[in-house]
This record gives sequence, C-alpha cells and structure tokens, in this order.
Amino acid sequence: MKKHTFLYLLVILIFNCESEKKNMSTTPKYVEETHSFAKPNNSVITHLDLDIVVDFEQEIIEGTATYQISNNNASEIVLDTKFLDIISTKADGKNVDFKLDAFDEQLGEALRIPISEDTKTITIAYKTTHKTEALQWLNPQQTADKTNPFLFTQGQAILTRTWIPIQDSPQIRITYTAKVKVPQQLMAVMSAENPKQKSSDGIYNFKMQQPISPYLIALAVGDFEYKAVSNRTGVYAEKSMIDKAQTEFSDMEKMVAAAENLYGDYDWDQFDVIVLPPSFPFGGMENPRLTFATPTVIAGDKSLTSLIAHELAHSWSGNLVTNATWNDFWLNEGFTVYFEIRIMEALYGKDRANMIALIGRQDLEEEVEGFKDEPDMTKLKLDLDGKNPDDGMNSIAYDKGYLFLRTLEEKVGREKFDAFLKKYFKTNAFSTVTTEEFVDYLNTNLLEPNNIDFKVKEWVYEPGIPSNQAIIVSNKFENAEQTLKEFLDTKSIDISKTKDWTTQEWVHFIRNFPETITTDDLARLDEAFNFTNSTNSHIAMVWYEQAINHDYHGNNVDQKIEDFLIHVGRRWYVSTLFKAFKRADKVDEALAIYKKSRPNYHSVTVNTIDDMLGYEDFESGGMQ
Ligand code: BES
Ligand code: ZN
Repeated sequence: MKKHTFLYLLVILIFNCESEKKNMSTTPKYVEETHSFAKPNNSVITHLDLDIVVDFEQEIIEGTATYQISNNNASEIVLDTKFLDIISTKADGKNVDFKLDAFDEQLGEALRIPISEDTKTITIAYKTTHKTEALQWLNPQQTADKTNPFLFTQGQAILTRTWIPIQDSPQIRITYTAKVKVPQQLMAVMSAENPKQKSSDGIYNFKMQQPISPYLIALAVGDFEYKAVSNRTGVYAEKSMIDKAQTEFSDMEKMVAAAENLYGDYDWDQFDVIVLPPSFPFGGMENPRLTFATPTVIAGDKSLTSLIAHELAHSWSGNLVTNATWNDFWLNEGFTVYFEIRIMEALYGKDRANMIALIGRQDLEEEVEGFKDEPDMTKLKLDLDGKNPDDGMNSIAYDKGYLFLRTLEEKVGREKFDAFLKKYFKTNAFSTVTTEEFVDYLNTNLLEPNNIDFKVKEWVYEPGIPSNQAIIVSNKFENAEQTLKEFLDTKSIDISKTKDWTTQEWVHFIRNFPETITTDDLARLDEAFNFTNSTNSHIAMVWYEQAINHDYHGNNVDQKIEDFLIHVGRRWYVSTLFKAFKRADKVDEALAIYKKSRPNYHSVTVNTIDDMLGYEDFESGGMQ
C-alpha cells in the first residue's frame, strides 16, 4: 500500500470515529413533536417558580413564571403561549426583548426569549386573557353552595399554555413551586403538596418535588374544605358535598393499596380527590396528588367509583410513565383502563370488572363504526399532525388499548404479564415513552423470551380490531339481556329479577334496547323504574339518549334532559346527548337547549359541541 493511501485511510477512519462519537453525543433526547413550538433539544425548562394573583373581579390570573433552564448552546429558548398577555421577560434577572411568532389557531404563539450560553433562569411577567381555554371562572350560582365563586384549570392536552407560558409538550418534565394569592375567604389547591385548611391571608405556597409534564399542572380555587379518608387519601369538596364525597370515596385507601400490590409503590405520597362544580368537562383528571373529579360521580352507592380507580391508575400509567406525544395517547389511556379494571377486580371481584370491560367493548364497537369513513382514526398509534390532539381522545385509545392489553394478558398468563408491567413502570419511571419504544420493550421483555407470536403490529399500527382479540363474557349482562328480551316479548317485567342489579347492569339493559322498541314500551319501563328521574348520572344519561333516539316524551323527560344539559358540563355526557339529537334529526331542538347551556360549559366542551352542531354557522359569532 502506498504511503499516502495509508494516510488517507487513517484520516477516513479517524474522521468516521469522530463523527460517530458526535452522533452519539447529539442523539436528540426529545422526539419531534407537532403540538408544541418548543425546541427542547436546544434549550429546555427544568423547574418553575410561579408567583400569581387570582383576580376574580377581572377574571384573570396575573404574575410571573420563573424557570430554571438547561441550555445546549442555544441563543434563545422557545416557549408555548396562547391567548396570554406577555408583559416583559428577563434572563438571569436582566430585562431582555422577547418575540412572539404569528398566531396559530391550534397551537397559539411561540414566545422566543434570547439567552446566552450561561443563562440559568428566565422570568416572564404575564396575564391571562378572557380567551383563555384552560380556566373556567364560575359564579356562585354555578357552584354547589351558591355563595362564592370558583375557578379551576384543565391542562390536558395543550391548554396549560393558555394560563402559564411553558414548553407544553408531554416530553418535558419539570418540578415546580407556586405562590398563589386568592381572595381571603377562598382556598387554593394544586397538583402539589396541598393545604388542608384555609390560610388567614389568602396566600398559599405549593411545591411539587417530582418532575411532571406541563399538562399536569393544575389549580382550583373556591370555598371548599378537606376531609381525610386515610392518612394518605382524602377529599376536598364544598360544604354541602363534603360528607357525601367522603362516604362515596371511602374505599380510596383500599384502591391505593390494591394498585401498589399490582404494579409497585405509589410514588406521589398523597392521593386526594377534589369534587368540582358540575361544569367540569371530564369525569376525572389525573392531576398528580390531587385528582379533579365531576360531582356526577357521586351516586350515593359507590357505583361509579371506577372513575377514581382510573385516575389513581394514571399515577403509574401517565404521570409516572408518560406518552411522549399525543399520537401515543393510548399508552396513557389504554394502560390506565387496563389498570383501573384490575383495581376494580381486586376490590370487588371479576363480575364487576367484566361488566366495566364489556361496557367499554360496546363503546369501542360504536366508535369503530363511527369512524368507518376514517379508518386511520381507529389505529392505536395516531397521526394527529395538523389536528387538535383532542381529535384523538376517543374510545379507541381507551378501549382498543384495553382490549390489546387484556388479549396480551390472556395469551401470556397473568403472572408473567403483571411482572412485565411492573418492570415497565419501574424502568420508565419519570420519563416518556413512544409507541415504538413500547413495542420494542414488549418484544424484548415479554414476547421473545416467552416465544410468543402476537399480532402486535396489527394491533398498534392497523385500523380495526384484530381477530385474536380476547372475548369478554359476563353472566350478569347475559341475564340483563334475557330480562330485556322477556320484557319485549311479554310486555311485562318481573321486577324481582332486577332487584339486585348494579348500575352497570342497568346501563347495559338500557343501552341494548333494539331499534324497534316502542314509546309504549319505554313508558312502561319508565313507570316501573322511573329512569327519567334517576339520581344516577350514568343511568340517566343512557336513558335520555334512548328517549331522544326513540321519540319518547313521557314523564316530563324533555324538561329533565334540558335541565341535565344545562347543569352538567361533562363532555362525554353532553356530547352523547347532543349526538343523539343530531342523529334523530333534531338539531333545532338541540340548538335551542345549547343556547341556554353553552354559557355553563368549559371551553373543551364548548369546542366539541360547537363543531358537532355547527353552532358558529348558526350564531355567526365566536364564544361569548
Ligand atoms: N386524562 C383523562 C381526561 C382527559 C383526556 C382530559 C384527554 C383531556 C384530554 C382522564 O383520565 C379520563 O380518562 N377521564 C375519563 C374517566 C373514565 C374513563 C373513567 C372521563 O373523563 O370520562
Ligand atoms: Zn384517563
């Protein structure tokens, strides 16, 4: 070999090694994310100190957000904001000029703050505006006790940026402290260490020591109090609700213990629930240490508390191991439904667990049918590029995700599956996971070692429900179906057969009315069971849906439906009923009710129903 050829090869070799090293050291930690403007691979927030005043008169929050940052040689840090009034920005205490990019309907505006190599902190002085989407300001009439106003936030999926300027991607994890000033007669709580009593001056200090994703930062302010259920669980609620809430949720400690027994220690010390006013747009929201819940979960007989098991389960699947992007949302919700049903089985047995699973199975069937023209939306791994992440938040992530995991469990056996899940939570604690990473992890840690062939790719990346799905059966539901059939055949019902029915059986019974059921049949059933006046929100909701479907108007049900829609803002309930009106060609009736109920709803419910009913075309105006 000629000398210069040798030298040439040596140079190539060294160069290759160098570039390999470089590649390794620059392997990005954060994956591409279409729902945030932040560039966390360049510069990222690591800790937040929030100092804010909650002004009920002006209905704004005002104050400063100071971040500790980690800078990877960038000359600016990019944050997400939407509908915020940015007043000034500082880097290490010195004023710097910020820039706001053009406004994007879904994502808001990128806020760019110049930094230098050694910048340690940035501070942003800001105010929220009346367009904020996270906050709902309630007047006293909209609360249970009707004497004081109330405020709550909803961060998931991309709304935190409408009340705090932040890098709003689930991949980001920060610790935080907050100093929050509220009117003296009110109390404030957050997804953090919380007070158990009111302060004398309306000032509250919070600390969240574990790193969490921004969508989990939450605040509620109102006139509520605390009652413990055990030394690490308890409830916050308004005075008129507190005892009912404490009784309804009295199994909370057992739930935490059962969850720990399944998948490892509860890492957040305290598990409390706050019962919010009825406009809260979700059943529950898993804000760490403090689940936010709808009052419609309080049925008086603990029959709807699987919702608490669900939000508790998110303390592992979601809050500890988090979906990397909203396209991976099923990793949060599918795992959580699976875990929820396991907790319910541990506390109340297989019958109850299978009924919950089968209700979800029916929801899944309906969702897949509803997406028959958009089959891509029935994949577990989504592509929400250019869409609002809310579009992916439907039964597919929850119930197809559940069915996938249940099918896996049945294939490998519970013991192995539980050991696998426990290890998955432990290995990935306080970090985020993409669908691809999970699929790899599953193959390496469960399927390959056990020589199991499973249609993983089909489950995750293809539409519809694969044929190897687990079949879920429930004798209780078969009995309920039989009772329904007998009623339809004989027009009479043997009430003794239904006397031990749980909410789930009633829901199943009502949801399975055939197309051909008559208004006379409905009137007879209503006379026997008074569904129209049910105090159980789930039973009432499915009954109202059938009343709309089948043009039933007895027992003053129309008024009841209207009252329900005006009072309750839980999106799942509200959208089920408005969808029924639409399907039955009763959009005018729906719009007449919606005009009255809309001012009571949180923005996430408003957005969904506006779209569904074409409200903006109708009113030719925006949100009032
Ligand atoms: N994290 C969700 C609520 C959510 C989802 C908020 C997507 C914003 C965007 C919560 O854990 C949830 O799933 N709630 C359900 C509870 C039910 C499945 C038991 C709800 O609100 O109905
Ligand atoms: Zn959930």
